[in-house]
Amino acid sequence: MNICIIGTGYVGLVTGACFADLGNRVFCVDSDRKKIDSLKRGVVPIYEPGLEEMVRGNMKKGRLSFSTNIKESVKKSTIIFICVGTPSAESGEPDLTALEAVAREIAKSMNSYKLIVEKSTVPVETGEWVKRTIDTLFASGAKKREGGFDVASNPEFLREGSAIKDFKHPDRIVIGTGSEKAKKILLELYKPLKAPIVVTDIKSAEIIKHASNSFLSMKISFINAISVVCDKTGADIKKVARGMGMDKRIGTSFLEAGIGFGGSCFPKDLDAFIHIADRLGYNFSLLREVKKINSEQKNVLIHKISQLVWNIAGKTIGVFGLSFKPDTDDIRNSPPIDIIRMLFARGAKIRAYDPKAAQKSRDTLARLCPGKKKEIVYCKDAYDAAKGCDCLVVLTDWNEFKELDFAKLKKLLKNPAIVDGRNIYDPEMMKKMGFTYIGIGRR
Ligand code: UGA
Repeated sequence: MNICIIGTGYVGLVTGACFADLGNRVFCVDSDRKKIDSLKRGVVPIYEPGLEEMVRGNMKKGRLSFSTNIKESVKKSTIIFICVGTPSAESGEPDLTALEAVAREIAKSMNSYKLIVEKSTVPVETGEWVKRTIDTLFASGAKKREGGFDVASNPEFLREGSAIKDFKHPDRIVIGTGSEKAKKILLELYKPLKAPIVVTDIKSAEIIKHASNSFLSMKISFINAISVVCDKTGADIKKVARGMGMDKRIGTSFLEAGIGFGGSCFPKDLDAFIHIADRLGYNFSLLREVKKINSEQKNVLIHKISQLVWNIAGKTIGVFGLSFKPDTDDIRNSPPIDIIRMLFARGAKIRAYDPKAAQKSRDTLARLCPGKKKEIVYCKDAYDAAKGCDCLVVLTDWNEFKELDFAKLKKLLKNPAIVDGRNIYDPEMMKKMGFTYIGIGRR
């Protein structure tokens, strides 16, 4: 099938590359010329395992191409996936102006039947607005109706760091549409994945996405709240989470206590869902609390650091990890970046190491904290980051932090103290090796 992908961010790029890999002809469009120029050369601007190879391979086979020309790309395609950003405004309300502009552009470029699919995470009723926007354009006579169109919602459930795997082996695919024709086309498109498919109306599909991300965020805040109770009582959060998760109704995943969730999805989608509920006249106070607990978790970590170093002012803190999760260089809403800013505010010096996110962090922190450039050193590896530190803090659970030479690490530290914000080390082992160790919810 011929597919047009509008927006080449994480979602658009992964979706486009994976559809091409399934044998479709995919035309990816973005208004950012620099990004498109780089993609045309086979250079992917983000780090996502396997993505660059997949993009290059499919470009070579002539199944994947990039351009800034939305008109031509829409004309050549039957299915148009809208993957543009829906950032949060100050109020938490999602900004849908880019999406509306794209809907108009698509309408103006229609030369035959088109199936327009929302892939971006959008508020419930956005599908109706897209349809109405295009219909209005036709009704006004500004554009001749050619071939008709349908709108569908097909939310993505891709996790950064494992996006390709998630695309190819999804737990489920959600297709929201009121049209039999659109349903048939999308069922055919996804047939090779042999995954369970849920077909709904558009509004239900839109809510499935926001409700799923909100529920997962709630699970994380729940386990973080339990970790505070464990800290106060001497129970072990790892054991509590395991004991809870073995109940199939609860499940073991997303019960890792830590420094709180971040990234470009959960915080934004929570804000959006709270805002949507407000607009509909419902105060979703449960989600407000999820947000509050998530934000407080950073204070929990700062408190643990001060338990080990006393005054943070003047101390050197070694930071392991800057990205919001492992296997990505993404630092959008990254808890480690917030924690570094909190440490700066308390007068600490930082030695930081991240396998992939150092450059992005350097640029972002220089912009956010221009007076603190000299207070942070970006190190070449974990050992370098440990040199002369009063305390080490693990902020991202990259695999390489799990397999270090701890005797060497201990010698490099000024004070052998570790705050493990991701619970990646065994407290007993750390104690045996002579570290003063504090995890999350594991006294
Ligand atoms: C999330 C969802 O998991 C995807 O299903 C969804 O498609 C995506 O958002 C999106 O809406 O586009 P992502 O943000 O890439 O994916 O990352 P997650 O693996 O969900 O992690 C989010 C945050 O939660 C990270 O900061 C992670 O460290 C934290 N987390 C996750 C925990 O603190 N504890 C856990 O048990 C799990």
